[in-house]
Amino acid sequence: MYSLKVMEHFCNPRNVGYLEEASVAVQYGDPACGDCLLIFLRVEGNVIRDMKYKVLGCAAAIATASVTSELAIGRTIEAALQLTEEQVAEALDGLPPGKMHCSNLAVGALRAALRVYLSRQEEAEVVIRRSEADTR
Ligand code: FES
Repeated sequence: MYSLKVMEHFCNPRNVGYLEEASVAVQYGDPACGDCLLIFLRVEGNVIRDMKYKVLGCAAAIATASVTSELAIGRTIEAALQLTEEQVAEALDGLPPGKMHCSNLAVGALRAALRVYLSRQEEAEVVIRRSEADTR
């Protein structure tokens, strides 16, 4: 049985959509069930300023994507990387035991997007350092 909060997020998911000026976009799926999520983040400095997503999945996948977006927006990258599946489930007043794995989808997508973002930042820093060294 789903909690009222799960049902509310499932019926009125927050932050659904695309971000035209995303800092990073990643598609992330659960091969076990076939559900997937396309996630967009806008990062400014070290803070997630916006998150949008499109999700193809079960009611729990939709509700957890919705609440994950609420938990992620306004967090620093480090704090967002520490967000756990359990915290997402708690924010929804729990998930049925057989649906706990569904909370992995949005949290996994968020982590994957942040890792891609951070690796691109590192690559950009290397390029800048190389071009600075070339001009000396
Ligand atoms: Fe796949 Fe819920 S059954 S995320």
